[in-house]
Amino acid sequence: MLQCWLAHDERTPPAVGAVQFGELRRARPFGQCYGFDRAQPIDRYYIERFLESHAADIRGRVLEIEDDRYTRRFGTGVTRSDVLHFNADHPGATLQGDLADAPHIASNSYDCVVLTQTLQYIYDVAAAVVTVARICAPGGVVLASVPGISRTSDAQWSETWMWNFTSRGVRRLFGGVFKSDALNVRGHGNVLAATAFLHGLAVEDVDVKELDQYDEGYEICTTVRAQKN
Ligand SMILES: C[S@@+](CC[C@H](N)C(=O)[O-])C[C@H]1O[C@@H](n2cnc3c(N)ncnc32)[C@H](O)[C@@H]1O
Repeated sequence: MLQCWLAHDERTPPAVGAVQFGELRRARPFGQCYGFDRAQPIDRYYIERFLESHAADIRGRVLEIEDDRYTRRFGTGVTRSDVLHFNADHPGATLQGDLADAPHIASNSYDCVVLTQTLQYIYDVAAAVVTVARICAPGGVVLASVPGISRTSDAQWSETWMWNFTSRGVRRLFGGVFKSDALNVRGHGNVLAATAFLHGLAVEDVDVKELDQYDEGYEICTTVRAQKN
């Protein structure tokens, strides 16, 4: 018989067949927009809290992917703001390219790279992390987030969603490039957060105290602060 971990929750689970699924008894989610169509998406709760707690790193020359929303929102003392997009001619982008192969981006260029929810789209993800380390200036910081348990399709990027991550894998991935004492990797989520997120519910649908409980078996995202020596 399959060996199971003891449940963290000491309450006795319902008998087999007696679970009250209520509104969750449905094969299709409530929403298909990660919660963006309701209020704050649950993964963004963790991601934005992480960026806020590292706002002091978002300074000097900053590179962000797709747009500069987090550079503007959390940055202080930003002297240059670049935006990288995979597609040419994306409005607001100052650079175009594939992070897995970007020799045109000069080495040692950025004091901070804000790399949220992007690595899942890159097949050669290890090469992308090497690029990010290369383009960081000495002492520069990468603030990254990647999805774990998550819906894996959206209108724009479904075709290239390649990966979902665990904090274990992310520690190995970044640990191959950054020194361990300069690396802080943290998983976020629990079964309630994961269930609500998969249904496209929002932070406002739950209690943030519930989101703050961490269960390593149910990470919905992982955040990374990595500093280049
Ligand atoms: C959903 S957006 C994520 C970025 C956004 N800042 C955020 O926090 O949601 C996905 C981004 O991944 C970028 N992307 C996809 N493949 C890429 C690649 N190979 N190299 C660099 N960027 C890539 C696209 O430019 C796109 O802007």
